[in-house]
Amino acid sequence: MSSHAPITPAGAGRKPVTLRTLAQMKKDGQRITMLTGYDATFARLLDAAGVDMILVGDSLGMVVKGEANTLNVSVEQMAYHTAAVARGVARAHVVGDMPFMSYQTSPEEALKNAARLLQSGASSVKLEGGRQLAPTVARLVEAGIPVMGHVGLMPQSVHAMGGFVVQGKDPESRQRVLDDAVALEAAGAYAVVLEGIPIDLATEITETLAIPTIGIGAGAGCDGQVLVLYDLLGLNPDFTPKFVKKYVDGAAVVGDAVRAYVDEVKRGVFPDDDHAFHAPRPKAAATATKESLTLVHGRVVGHH
Ligand code: KIV
Repeated sequence: MSSHAPITPAGAGRKPVTLRTLAQMKKDGQRITMLTGYDATFARLLDAAGVDMILVGDSLGMVVKGEANTLNVSVEQMAYHTAAVARGVARAHVVGDMPFMSYQTSPEEALKNAARLLQSGASSVKLEGGRQLAPTVARLVEAGIPVMGHVGLMPQSVHAMGGFVVQGKDPESRQRVLDDAVALEAAGAYAVVLEGIPIDLATEITETLAIPTIGIGAGAGCDGQVLVLYDLLGLNPDFTPKFVKKYVDGAAVVGDAVRAYVDEVKRGVFPDDDHAFHAPRPKAAATATKESLTLVHGRVVGHH
């Protein structure tokens, strides 16, 4: 039975968040909020709650697909989830994450794959990398595709980095991250994610760049913040990194609800009469005697 209503955006008609909005927010010192989203139901909730940007992150490889890293996410999978998110959104700016090897091989390949994400409903794309990716960023921007950069801890480079480790801790690495961010801005990126870097470096980059910085594990000195939605919701009790704040114990909430459901079904408590359909009573039933009726909580639920 397919009885679900389609997910329609809440509060359609609200002014959408554009690149101009984001640039103005930086100028005005208004902090930008971004969360990841992977489906229409959550996108609608995030949008209604006022989040400025929804990143359809390739983190879905880990939190949706259950993989150990983000390296096995395809453009098709990103397009699928981007379209789902876009259907739930009225105001937030939707960013489609370019997955591993969808942009590193050539600017032409990057163009083709970025176009796919925009055609799926994203308003911009994000890619990981700094100076070496600047020509690709410039090519996308030239073609009218807004690009958000991503420097510091770059999950698609997990093997090169030797794990998910904080970057920019020594002077050389620090300079590299700063140069990467500056190169992205020069290439035309409209914003840059700063992931897993020391707070003072993130603050320095934020003060250096004219474009907004969005931090994750980079401290409060950034123009905005991003978290993986499932982390903020506390859905994985085993994932407790320093930079994540769990705003709800989602694992407990979901666990309690599902245990209650299992218990009620096993005991025959759910579905009760309030959650069942009733056919109109046939005429003959109207003459049924009281003895032939089955009553539950004083309601007629059948007759015999
Ligand atoms: O894929 C993702 O979710 C990300 C954020 C963590 C920035 O890139």
